[in-house]
Amino acid sequence: MSEIKTIGVLTSGGDAPGMNAVIRAIVRTAHFNGMKVKGVQKGFAGLLEKNVVDMDLRSVSGTLQRGGTILGSARSNEFRTDAGVEKGRQNCIDLGIDGIIIAGGDGSFKGARELSMKGIPCVGVPCTIDNDIGCTDYSIGFDTAVNTVVELVDKLRDTSQSHSRCSIVEVMGNSCGAIALHAGICTGAEAVIIPEVHNDLERDVLNNMRDALNKGKTHFIIIVSEGVTGERAKHRSMDTHQLAEFIQASTGVETRATIIGHIQRGGTPSARDRRIGSMMGNYAVRLLKNGVDNRVVAMQKNVLVDYDIKEALEISKTINFEELRTFNEIC
Ligand code: F6P
Repeated sequence: MSEIKTIGVLTSGGDAPGMNAVIRAIVRTAHFNGMKVKGVQKGFAGLLEKNVVDMDLRSVSGTLQRGGTILGSARSNEFRTDAGVEKGRQNCIDLGIDGIIIAGGDGSFKGARELSMKGIPCVGVPCTIDNDIGCTDYSIGFDTAVNTVVELVDKLRDTSQSHSRCSIVEVMGNSCGAIALHAGICTGAEAVIIPEVHNDLERDVLNNMRDALNKGKTHFIIIVSEGVTGERAKHRSMDTHQLAEFIQASTGVETRATIIGHIQRGGTPSARDRRIGSMMGNYAVRLLKNGVDNRVVAMQKNVLVDYDIKEALEISKTINFEELRTFNEIC
């Protein structure tokens, strides 16, 4: 493998708070090791348009605390085709990019693998608020997103309590219930409905509510993952508003639905996302520098490791059952 002199970096898929920490660490580590960096704007779509900027040390000043991604992000249909990947390969060569780091989720890593297979060294860094990437315990953006949800649900709790209502809160996560479960534990929600568990509404939610009402409870928070009631849910029987109507009709408790939406993807990244993002960015550059590519950086039991991209994509993610048990026993 030839020496890497210039590294490309792009952010792809849904943005995640902490992506800028990853970019900054890549730029700083690369320069520390005598390499140059080209920032590819708007993900793989930007690579296909040769939309790149040179990134010196100053280009990432003041970015650590900023949410979103300074490079912009996109989902590219063209890059899903062989012709698109081939064009990406040729553009890397034309632009003098010897290796490329892709910050994103599983979908982005598929693109990274295809590009790697065509001879461009690629390394993936897991960035998605969903925390749904199988090979890693942690994905950048998750902590900030959960903190945002917790802050918002705390506010909802105030008004639900004042009006003796039930609040149904839909959170993101794609088909992963991690945001919902974490937020449920942190906000003392009365129920969490996630795609990984087949919930029997009557048994798991309504009966518990009726019992609590009989004991004098007056307000409720129920967190539901978009993987159950969201637009893209695989087996949706009702949306979040219909769920709220159903709960009101079944229990007599006035119920409101709140869909938090993209607010949970924004905001200043938490200390955790800045720290792990910086470490993963640094690790990714060192992989390329050492001639290791076609890898995904991952965190296992608080230690950074890396996986072959294909292997990484084959690992499925399960919910943390200890957290689920904890929630069920303390809710
Ligand atoms: O993958 C991150 C995520 O925010 C998911 O939680 C959500 O389902 C999806 O992206 C939303 O995508 P878009 O920004 O295209 O609406």
